[in-house]
Amino acid sequence: MPSVKKLPAHVAIVMDGNGRWAQKRHLPRLAGHKRGVDALKTTIQACVDRAIPILTVFAFSSENWSRPASEVSGLIELLYAALRSELGSLGQRGIRLRFLGSRQELEPGLCTVLHDAEHATQANQGMLLNVCFNYGGRWDIVDAAARLAAAGTPITEASMNAALSLAPCPDPDLLIRTGDEHRLSNFLLWQCAYSELYFSPVLWPDFDAAALDEALKDYASRERRFGRTSPLAASALA
Ligand code: FPP
Repeated sequence: MPSVKKLPAHVAIVMDGNGRWAQKRHLPRLAGHKRGVDALKTTIQACVDRAIPILTVFAFSSENWSRPASEVSGLIELLYAALRSELGSLGQRGIRLRFLGSRQELEPGLCTVLHDAEHATQANQGMLLNVCFNYGGRWDIVDAAARLAAAGTPITEASMNAALSLAPCPDPDLLIRTGDEHRLSNFLLWQCAYSELYFSPVLWPDFDAAALDEALKDYASRERRFGRTSPLAASALA
């Protein structure tokens, strides 16, 4: 494992490219999603090994309901299966699991499983894994603002930060999108205001520790200014 001096405290990933991975192999799209679950398992362990405290992944967007019904039900089945097979192992590694996204459209059985998984891991002290499922950045902002308005709480940057579904996590330092697409696709729109963006050509099912290290190396070379002038530029002007 290469030593990277400046590690992100929070990595967020848009796991894109499952369909193309399958298509290239003349397999059904669901085969790509299945291999996507394996890549997710590998990436979770790679983040644990690198002592990254928070990992947030985009597993199912609010817009993904418009995919063919068989793909939607396949993705939901994959989530059930992954929780059945992985919850014990996540617990052994001290990983805490949270699901972000609207539960309104989810079947009651799935809501129970998500709630139980969160409850079973809530005291874990290791990495926090946020799985965005039926998540959309615009939904998140509207939902937070509506709850604040209903409670009569003034809408400020701080109150919004506290009401958004990612709270109390800090914003992602590094947002990785795989599959060679250069878009946010309605992921963490508010929270990625100052995240460093990294686009990987790797299709998600092929993403592994080496691909993660490429992203971490690139992140370590960035100068994060958060809207300020670079200290280098400032000293050159002085
Ligand atoms: C985007 O690839 C990926 C998704 C819509 C699903 C992501 C899900 C996983 C990685 C599996 C883990 C998730 C669960 C439910 C445990 P795409 O299908 O849009 O790929 P394409 O752009 O190549 O068509």
